[in-house]
Amino acid sequence: MEQSFNKINRIKGTLNIPGDKSISHRSVIFSSLAEGKSVIYNLGNGEDVKSTISCFAAMGVEFIPGNASLIVNGCGYKKFIKPLAPLFAGNSGTTTRLLTGVLVNQNFDSEITGDESLSNRPMKRIITPLTQMGAKISAASNGTLPIKISGSQKLHPIDYELPLASAQVKSSVILSGLHLEDETKVIEKTESRDHTERMLGLKISNKDGSKIIHVSKKNYPSAGEYIVPGDISTAAFFLPLALLTHNSELLIKNVSINETRIGIITILKSMGGNITAENIKHNSGEISGDLLLKSSSLKNIEIPRHIIPNIIDEIPILAVAGVIADGKFSIRNAKELRGKESDRISAVCYNLKLLGLNVTEFEDGFEFDGVIKNQYPVFDSFGDHRIAMSFGILSLLLSNGGKINNFNSVNISNPDFIKQLKTISR
Ligand code: S3P
Repeated sequence: MEQSFNKINRIKGTLNIPGDKSISHRSVIFSSLAEGKSVIYNLGNGEDVKSTISCFAAMGVEFIPGNASLIVNGCGYKKFIKPLAPLFAGNSGTTTRLLTGVLVNQNFDSEITGDESLSNRPMKRIITPLTQMGAKISAASNGTLPIKISGSQKLHPIDYELPLASAQVKSSVILSGLHLEDETKVIEKTESRDHTERMLGLKISNKDGSKIIHVSKKNYPSAGEYIVPGDISTAAFFLPLALLTHNSELLIKNVSINETRIGIITILKSMGGNITAENIKHNSGEISGDLLLKSSSLKNIEIPRHIIPNIIDEIPILAVAGVIADGKFSIRNAKELRGKESDRISAVCYNLKLLGLNVTEFEDGFEFDGVIKNQYPVFDSFGDHRIAMSFGILSLLLSNGGKINNFNSVNISNPDFIKQLKTISR
């Protein structure tokens, strides 16, 4: 489906954003592991979260939609049932990597498959530590899906120093460690999003500048309540839009402002963005607040290396802000972007080149400057929800608008994107 956008004149109003995707996946997984009834409020409504639900439903977990909530009747420790068919994780890397940490501890064989994009994404990063714990996993020769997991293996705890900043790898090892009597330690040199350890209430220690996460069976989740805050990564698309549109003011209600996720706010503020957080709340170990945005003029800044894991999903929309902001945009140390739903370095560069900008692509990033020459570009989403929404926003900021192909990929994280835009466009 092709989607056209006209230039927007003014943004005004209030947005409610659906539940955070990362926290939603974890709420579904932890309540499926627990025995008995849990309730999740404000669960994310994207396809990725649905993939996690359908995988656990195939293993005997009961999901009952309630009034603005989802009731989950979880199976309890090692009580999942063998699925009748391979578990299909759709487009979702988080589903695959976290689910694998659970499956290696079950008493049945299992298999995970995914769509074309997911089938090209790297899985060795989880296979390596889980194998060190005693798991038996086989993957395609280049370490991709489908992966097959042998059940009934005797696993043991490990001390694992993460070779890359990845919350998915960290969580996969933690989920496996949750099934073991003795303590597994995950050592993180560069911090990635910390929802897993927060939501499970894990013990954290620090040594030589690294964070150490301690997990064992005593942290296995019990049934409970999860209140999911709005998704900051979904809200992120509206931030440059409100800031860069004249005479605009936007209030985004109840979004996650977890420290490990707010790099996008920090950078946009340093670029000159008028953003304030108010009405701060604490729920399910997480923190949320309302974001108030007012029109601002932005200037590109140097993006520090240490903040990259914190903005990993927001780099495409940050680049879009960089197109309208003054000065040269440059981002490096972000090679991880090549292994996302698309190769986001080449996808962003391809689309920026369509505008006639001077773009240089590096293995670990890109930079660009120059003036926009093409006033009605037709962008390619590469089937990637975040590329689709980023270039949708850019189209709204261009004098003649723009078009994006394969736009329905937005359903992966935010099926309401167009509806939300309509409520705030003036
Ligand atoms: C996620 C972690 C990040 C992020 C992804 C969601 C999570 O991936 O890009 O969208 O929920 O743990 P990595 O941990 O692989 O960087």
